[in-house]
Amino acid sequence: MAERSRRDVTLVDMLDLEPGDQALEVSVGMGVNLPLMCEKIGSSGRVFGLDISEGMLAQARNKLSSLPCVVELRQSLAEELSYPDNSSDALFHLGGINFFTSPRRALEEMDRVAGPGARIVVSDETVALVGGLRARLSRAILWLVPRLRPPTELVPDPHPQLRYLAGGYLFAMQRLINRSSARLTLQVAPHPLELLSGDLSPRVTLAKYVQRSLCTEARPCRRARSLPG
Ligand SMILES: C[S@@+](CC[C@H](N)C(=O)[O-])C[C@H]1O[C@@H](n2cnc3c(N)ncnc32)[C@H](O)[C@@H]1O
Repeated sequence: MAERSRRDVTLVDMLDLEPGDQALEVSVGMGVNLPLMCEKIGSSGRVFGLDISEGMLAQARNKLSSLPCVVELRQSLAEELSYPDNSSDALFHLGGINFFTSPRRALEEMDRVAGPGARIVVSDETVALVGGLRARLSRAILWLVPRLRPPTELVPDPHPQLRYLAGGYLFAMQRLINRSSARLTLQVAPHPLELLSGDLSPRVTLAKYVQRSLCTEARPCRRARSLPG
């Protein structure tokens, strides 16, 4: 158990959460990672958690009252996330993707929900190909259970950084979303002719859509920086 907490702290650390962030945990299970995430984003942040299993969510709900941030849990499929595009600063998944019906679809969905500058950390069990006898054994295991291979080839661009943890029995794919994103902002102002005629009634007379690029070179993403080596 102590080993597990240490391992999960490292994985959650890889999200580089900041106070006020909105984070999403895909397959939240019994909610063991929620305290670690909440501690980092604080009372102004929010964690969204989903799981396919209502039973798991019920156990996670039991933990919510002691947490220092707002947590919203819902039943949902990882392959069909019910969250808007570009809505999360950080996405976390641990322990289910090896046996999802469609790992590719789940990874694409995480990509869609990740906002500019977001970090995505996806981790599950595997066997690392380290030297000697163990490498041969690992190859045999990966051949017998191909789903234990880290699914790096299923990840949309940019390609993930792959790490091994827990002595090589856990992979962690870490990505930074650096794409630019256009958000439409509705601005409301009185029509110039109405200003001239002195009619300043609060009616909407001119609606102008302003396209605001959130992530440009001149105005980089809030957390647009490279992943640590
Ligand atoms: C091994 S548990 C890990 C739970 C949690 N992430 C943790 O670290 O303790 C895997 C979880 O994946 C969930 N799961 C399996 N298939 C899923 C799917 N298609 N969509 C969402 N959750 C799924 C299971 O219900 C289970 O809670």
